[in-house]
Amino acid sequence: MDYLLNRRSVRKYDLSKKISNEDLIELCKYGEAAPSARRQKGREYIIVNEQEIINKLSLISKGSMILSECNTLIAVIGKDPKCLSTPHMQPLDLSAATENILLAATKKGYGSCWIGVYPLEERINPCNEILGINDNRFVFSLIALGIPLNDDSFYDANKLDMNDIHFNRG
Ligand SMILES: Cc1cc2nc3c(=O)[nH]c(=O)nc-3n(C[C@H](O)[C@H](O)[C@H](O)COP(=O)(O)O)c2cc1C
Repeated sequence: MDYLLNRRSVRKYDLSKKISNEDLIELCKYGEAAPSARRQKGREYIIVNEQEIINKLSLISKGSMILSECNTLIAVIGKDPKCLSTPHMQPLDLSAATENILLAATKKGYGSCWIGVYPLEERINPCNEILGINDNRFVFSLIALGIPLNDDSFYDANKLDMNDIHFNRG
């Protein structure tokens, strides 16, 4: 269970090393193992390892600039909501998949960082364009991935504030 507690957002990667395509596909498999409302299938994954595309994505927001420090990312994509049985739950399905990928990456010894895209249109639109999405699918999140440059993973014992735990009544 330590990998759950030790997951941290990693923003500096060893650019001389690459994650194999096999491992990247496996991370997508873990993403898709996340729960989804009514078991709807509203998720896709784009593995990006072309630096030119990554650099373009790094410019979509202030928070995305750290992407220029990585050589691989996975974009979690929402399928056309109109084709889903519970479309209002789709963002939650996509969040669950994103988190699963972060945790699976940590377990495998990779660093990762969730770059927020959805629900901001000013981020979704450029991401869609850069990744060649011109139908009703949309980019939900970008996940920076790689071998961490520094081994600064640590367990933050204070992350859970005990005042936020309640039994039976809030
Ligand atoms: C929805 C969401 C959006 C995020 N967007 C960004 C981002 O754009 N850039 C970034 O560097 N980190 C981003 N993060 C990572 C958070 O900054 C990070 O999880 C938080 O600071 C806690 O640190 P930790 O992940 O190391 O525990 C995002 C996290 C979430 C859940």
